[in-house]
Amino acid sequence: MTDRELYALAVKAAEKSYSPYSGFTVGAALLCENGKVYCGCNIENAAYSPTVCAERTAFFKAVSEGERSFRAIAVAGGKGGKFSNLCAPCGVCRQVMSEFCSAETFRIILGKDSGEIGSFLLKELLPGAFSLSD
Ligand code: THU
Repeated sequence: MTDRELYALAVKAAEKSYSPYSGFTVGAALLCENGKVYCGCNIENAAYSPTVCAERTAFFKAVSEGERSFRAIAVAGGKGGKFSNLCAPCGVCRQVMSEFCSAETFRIILGKDSGEIGSFLLKELLPGAFSLSD
């Protein structure tokens, strides 16, 4: 699976976004070491704080199905389904990634409608993460 293929799955997943409050639609596609892909979207709530991000939806789907080894996640996000900027995962989602993924090898793939694709290592996006070893 190429980065572009994984990103295309994230774009598709964003179509399922439930985001009537922010109008910011996000999709994520999480690639497991075994080659399976779990997708997720953001799901908002009238009480705001129960809102869950697309990345965590994908992670929690995968982990709840027994997956523990991950290679990369692609994310597409933007207002009104337009992906004009690279949509970086929020801090909470980065922390969830760090629970299950190697900071040295897990990659976060971001893209936008222009065709630009960026790839970042988890250690670049969450240096000094708090972990079990602390
Ligand atoms: N959101 C995500 O799904 N992922 C992120 O990493 C950043 C933010 C969602 C949460 C909320 O539904 C909307 O984007 C605006 O913050």
